[in-house]
Amino acid sequence: MRSGLIGLFDSGVGGLTVADRVRQDLPGAPFLYFGDTAHVPYGNRSAEEVRHLVSAIARHLVASGAQVLVMACNTSSALALDLVRAWSPVPVIGIIEAASRAAVQATRNGVIGVIANPLTAGSGAYEKACAQAASEARGAVGGVRVLPVGCPRLVPLVEAGEVHSPAARAALMEYLGPLQAEGIDTLVLGCTHYPFLVPLIAEILGPGVRIIDPAVYVVAELVALGWSPSQPGEARPLYQVSGDPLDFDRTASRLLGRPVTGTTRVDLSARACAGS
Ligand code: DGL
Repeated sequence: MRSGLIGLFDSGVGGLTVADRVRQDLPGAPFLYFGDTAHVPYGNRSAEEVRHLVSAIARHLVASGAQVLVMACNTSSALALDLVRAWSPVPVIGIIEAASRAAVQATRNGVIGVIANPLTAGSGAYEKACAQAASEARGAVGGVRVLPVGCPRLVPLVEAGEVHSPAARAALMEYLGPLQAEGIDTLVLGCTHYPFLVPLIAEILGPGVRIIDPAVYVVAELVALGWSPSQPGEARPLYQVSGDPLDFDRTASRLLGRPVTGTTRVDLSARACAGS
């Protein structure tokens, strides 16, 4: 059994949907969460910028004692997983492959929608991972059609804590409408910010569409690596951000519905500039 520090990161508050799942399913597991709030949203940046930012964060988490890295961020998983795995001395978990396998198993009509930021949606990562999952499943599933939609307005809304507002509803109607018209029966939340929007998404799509939250599969990967659901002792989660820690505490508390306090600011810009 392993019980070392779990390092998770995202561009902002989104990866908290993954961290919270780890917190609930592996109670007592120590984790350090890094939110790159000075650079959110990643979806409006270039792939090269995201790779630099992610490398600096990953190096920081390993230097801080992380025994495993969880990319609680689809954009990082799409663009920087191989890069970080190439040098990391600890295992690195991405979130796209496992979610794609789940989507391929879940779909009945083979039409899978993916909502994500424009960078992830345009990366081809979900199409590739779903095609791979379908071919691994061989005869068990038929062909799948994967329809990614870039949703630039959603991350800023979630970062502002606006997950039930009329603006959030209007944006979701706009992004989900074309997917409904295509007849999707499965929707992948291709951004870790979006689970905070699930009540609205489920209401808009209705019960006929299965919603896949990649966070669920991260815990299974941690358990496969040796982390146990019954960790000894109580570990206090640590939160770090590159932007304003009080802003993060406020938004995280609002979104999670429990107090998040004591977040500290860490400036990684020098390391990011130094590249990787
Ligand atoms: N939450 C991240 C993801 O899963 C990044 C979103 C963003 O900053 O655009 O892709």
